[in-house]
Amino acid sequence: MSNPSGNEPGSVEGDESMNDDLTGAAPPPEKADVTPPTVVPSGTLYELRGVERRYMRGSTPVLALHDVDLDIEPGEFLSMEGPSGSGKSTLLQLLGALDTPTSGTIRFEGNEMSSATDTNLTRIRGQEIGFVFQQFNLIPTLTAEENVGIAMIPHGHSKSQRRERSAELLERVGLGGRLDHLPSRMSGGEQQRVAIARALANRPRVIIADEPTGNLDSASAQDVMSLLNELQSGEEAVTIVVATHDVDVASRAGRRIRLRDGAVVS
Ligand SMILES: Nc1ncnc2c1ncn2[C@@H]1O[C@H](COP(=O)(O)OP(=O)(O)OP(=O)(O)O)[C@@H](O)[C@H]1O
Ligand SMILES: [Mg+2]
Repeated sequence: MSNPSGNEPGSVEGDESMNDDLTGAAPPPEKADVTPPTVVPSGTLYELRGVERRYMRGSTPVLALHDVDLDIEPGEFLSMEGPSGSGKSTLLQLLGALDTPTSGTIRFEGNEMSSATDTNLTRIRGQEIGFVFQQFNLIPTLTAEENVGIAMIPHGHSKSQRRERSAELLERVGLGGRLDHLPSRMSGGEQQRVAIARALANRPRVIIADEPTGNLDSASAQDVMSLLNELQSGEEAVTIVVATHDVDVASRAGRRIRLRDGAVVS
């Protein structure tokens, strides 16, 4: 998927009033629709209890995840390893509020996600979570700056605010000189750094990264991991959850878990 918005790609240049929902996220919810936040005494960011995700493949059930109990603390850098099909992406989708479990509970900031309204889940996805994927998912017809800025459109920022923040973020990820470059003129590592800048656009609490270095050479992979390490330990203090097959990538994490056949085994 190269166009995560699902809309026709096109230049955002010159469209001061552009406020369309290009990223698939809804505008900020009305106050009345926001569930009052629950105080979490422990401060735990995610609490998963007995989480199961069952898919149907035809008439055959597939247990992609089962019996998952997991706590993730704010500011952690957690890696998930495990063979293909072990449930890593399924678990990331649940953490990212892109999917809900078939049983069990997931609390995010103390609030039960499966009982959240669609509007609240959309708000969590849009404001609290930044996503980074193996395929970068940049829009090929937009510049680096526009690719970052597009994530801010649903949140009502003016074009100049978007430009300013995009430039600041691209500077942050080491691409200050590449603002006007199209993805096709950037290396894989540079494209992934643009994707990380885009993930940071709305100041998320969590970055969820599914095989973020899967398409990169080892030097670019190290750069991307160093950047994620900086974001976790620096002033952004973002919680990072990464699924990976790469032991070098996993070794950069503060905590490593392993999945096998849909269960967390260590
Ligand atoms: N939409 C779906 N419908 C049916 N089965 C699915 C679906 N998505 C995932 N699965 C199954 O769930 C299991 C876990 O898949 P998942 O994609 O989470 O694994 P993974 O650990 O991310 O694998 P990989 O390392 O290859 O990315 C697999 O058996 C997979 O075939
Ligand atoms: Mg996967």
